[in-house]
Amino acid sequence: MTELAQKLADFQPSSIGEIFTLANQLKSEGQDILDLSIGEPDFLTPDHVKQAAISAIDENYTKYTNVEGTLELKQAISKKFERDNGLNYSPEQIIVDAGAKPLLMHAMQAMLNQGDEVIIPTPCWTSYTGMVKLCDAICSYIPCPEDKGFKLQASDLEAAITAKTKLILLNSPCNPTGAAYTHAEMKAITDVLLDYPDVWILADDIYEHITYDSFKFCTPAQVEPRLYDRTLTVNGVSKAYSMTGWRIGFAAGPQELINGIVKILSQSSGNPCSISQAAAIAALEGPQELLAERAKIFRQRRDFLATRLDSIAGLRCHKPEGAFYLYPSCAGLIGKTTADGLKINNSNDFVKYLLRSHGVAAVPGSAFEYDPYFRLSYATSMETLEQAAQRIETACKALLAH
Ligand SMILES: Cc1ncc(COP(=O)(O)O)c(C=O)c1O
Repeated sequence: MTELAQKLADFQPSSIGEIFTLANQLKSEGQDILDLSIGEPDFLTPDHVKQAAISAIDENYTKYTNVEGTLELKQAISKKFERDNGLNYSPEQIIVDAGAKPLLMHAMQAMLNQGDEVIIPTPCWTSYTGMVKLCDAICSYIPCPEDKGFKLQASDLEAAITAKTKLILLNSPCNPTGAAYTHAEMKAITDVLLDYPDVWILADDIYEHITYDSFKFCTPAQVEPRLYDRTLTVNGVSKAYSMTGWRIGFAAGPQELINGIVKILSQSSGNPCSISQAAAIAALEGPQELLAERAKIFRQRRDFLATRLDSIAGLRCHKPEGAFYLYPSCAGLIGKTTADGLKINNSNDFVKYLLRSHGVAAVPGSAFEYDPYFRLSYATSMETLEQAAQRIETACKALLAH
């Protein structure tokens, strides 16, 4: 066969995809699967957002737009950064892309050279590794243990920075742990970064609006204005407004970097969908109360599931500040054997056992570079969570009985 690019040789598709495929296969075979592997809110896109898209179609707003996003949307984003984060960006410092995911990829392409090191606190979102590899750069992981709330410590950051470090990825609230940095915790990180002027900062704030218990969200450029000139703050409408399918992400940062990303977009993806851009304006400029209302529902689910999982023998569950994920440890079950004689060697084995034998879909810690843990999403109904917790308890009991 004609050869594929060499970089694909050591490139893995997301293991979330593997679980998704297996869960779907089992569902199609008639098994009752409770899916806690999903990374999107179960709420609907708000009506006024849908109406804005319908109007855009009716008004034939269906052609190419500026590659970097329409001026109207960039103005709405500029207002959002001021309203929510106290950050001032002119529309020229803002870029829109088809989701935060491609935006992160395009930003890295604009920042990184071959062999550059990218600092990634782990557990981390599964796609960061692939993006860094596609840029021929190197992942420099910093493990952030559970007893530190899964958060990066300033001393560990200081120790990891080398002459080759070009970028640090900060994701708060974090996928998969839900960990979110307080102002003081973020300040400890930004204080270190002040001493390294050649390092870019990429703040992935996609879960900004999903925090609990009067937690006050903050972002690096806001916490340390002296980092403003080398920070790209990435956000989007996917998680906050239940618009995962609409594919709109955005970012703000220094003009030169934004120009660089626009160059990449202009020769690759082109503009994001015109109709989705109109919908995103409605989301950002419309009523914002729904954000707190939805966060309240997520909090009830987190409280229930974290407490319930923590009470199950063999598991331990940290209660995080935000996002809609839990990241329980399954260390207490490693080395155990299932009733069919299958040994649980790692979180992958545990998650496959949960799915095949008890019909609960979760994502193994290997997808997030930190084991032996697994990720459960509580972006689903309370009934589903109650049933899932029951099944997980039964599964753990069965393992501990052998
Ligand atoms: C941490 C993180 N960043 C970015 C994204 C991508 O968001 P979008 O749907 O806007 O591409 C996700 C989606 O799961 C995520 O978890």
